[in-house]
Amino acid sequence: MNNKIDGFSKLTKEKKIDWVIKNHFNSKNDVKKLLKLYWNSDKKVQKNHDEFTENTISNFYYPLGVAPNFLINNRVFTLPMVTEESSVVAAACKSAKFWFSRGGFKTEVLNTEKVGQIHFLFDGKFTRIKNFFLKNKSKLINSIKNLTKNMNKRGGGLKDLEIVNKTNLIKNYYQLKGTFETDNAMGANFINSCLEKLTESFKILIEDDNDLNTNEKNIEIIMSILSNYTPNCIVKASVSCPINHLGPFKSIKAEEFAKKFLTAIKIAKIDKYRAVTHNKGIMNGIDAIAMATGNDFRAIEACAHAYACKNGKYSSLSNAFIEKDTFTFEIEIPLSVGTVGGLTKLHPIVNWSLELLNFPDSKSLMEITAVAGLAQNFAAVKSLITSGIQKGHMKMHLLNILKQKGATENQKIKAINFFKKNIVSVSAVDDFLKNT
Ligand code: MEV
Repeated sequence: MNNKIDGFSKLTKEKKIDWVIKNHFNSKNDVKKLLKLYWNSDKKVQKNHDEFTENTISNFYYPLGVAPNFLINNRVFTLPMVTEESSVVAAACKSAKFWFSRGGFKTEVLNTEKVGQIHFLFDGKFTRIKNFFLKNKSKLINSIKNLTKNMNKRGGGLKDLEIVNKTNLIKNYYQLKGTFETDNAMGANFINSCLEKLTESFKILIEDDNDLNTNEKNIEIIMSILSNYTPNCIVKASVSCPINHLGPFKSIKAEEFAKKFLTAIKIAKIDKYRAVTHNKGIMNGIDAIAMATGNDFRAIEACAHAYACKNGKYSSLSNAFIEKDTFTFEIEIPLSVGTVGGLTKLHPIVNWSLELLNFPDSKSLMEITAVAGLAQNFAAVKSLITSGIQKGHMKMHLLNILKQKGATENQKIKAINFFKKNIVSVSAVDDFLKNT
């Protein structure tokens, strides 16, 4: 490849753009203009965004929408949602309104524990390294005192440290497994700093130990890192109402709707192909809140899908049941989110989103986020078992298609009117534009 470059990160922003354009684009001027069009006119604002990551050359807009009318534990919220998918915010709004008049959403945080691991190889008997660990456990914990003192004051910190034998899976493989509470922080930086310091202390203590022999002292640290799997950081959200308050939905009576809904959930429980799509619908809501509040949606996604396999088979994250004529729809999901640290103060729109939510603590944000997932899931399954998804979805997508086809403002107004009664598709929009 002749466009390899060393020291790219050291170039100025202008020079980076020039290099990218020279090496990857033909139409040079427009390409540069486009990138600059998305620069913020306020230099301070732009600098702030430039510094979030490396090699920033422009900004990438995603829409920030809001979904009002979320009644959660008897408090009303307007949710900030960042998503590119046209129907997601509308679906959230519909769901919120539907459940507002049926008691709203109820939530409960079950636990908030996070995990970090030091993975290492030890050539010796488990009892030998276990005894060493037990003898030095308090020294290890003490060695991170400086790092944990602030978190301890807030009720968090390292809650336990244990040694885990994994030699049945990999020869000589063990872990030091720490469990942490991180208060209102998501905690990745805190946990990783603790783990790296623990690792350093572990190595020094081994070195200085009088019981371990030379071979046993030759441990190999493979890595020290938090786990994004947080099966003990769980929030539950649910909605329920008498079955006869559910409908009717056009020709579908409430009882039939409830039965069909339960069957749809059953399918998502047993069929992997459906479960993935079902859970993707849940994540439409969850990721949108995570993005708006500056949380790590990749970690949340990875964890949610691992949790969906917790019984050995990928399954639905939500559940529905009927008990004594009451319909209940619920979700139980691990959500490691933070409301301090990270981007929360640095990104003004993230801070704005948190203010919109009345500056929740991390537990409240877990609850709100789970509700967004459940609401989204309800809206999707409701559409799927009644009108079908495409009607609403394509209605929301209509503007995108019109834009793609270069429709004029006048054509857009006419099209919106026309497609109130007609099915949206790319070819139907094409035909419509030809005749308008
Ligand atoms: C689309 O983004 C999400 C849905 O496919 C979810 C589902 O099928 O439940 C509509």
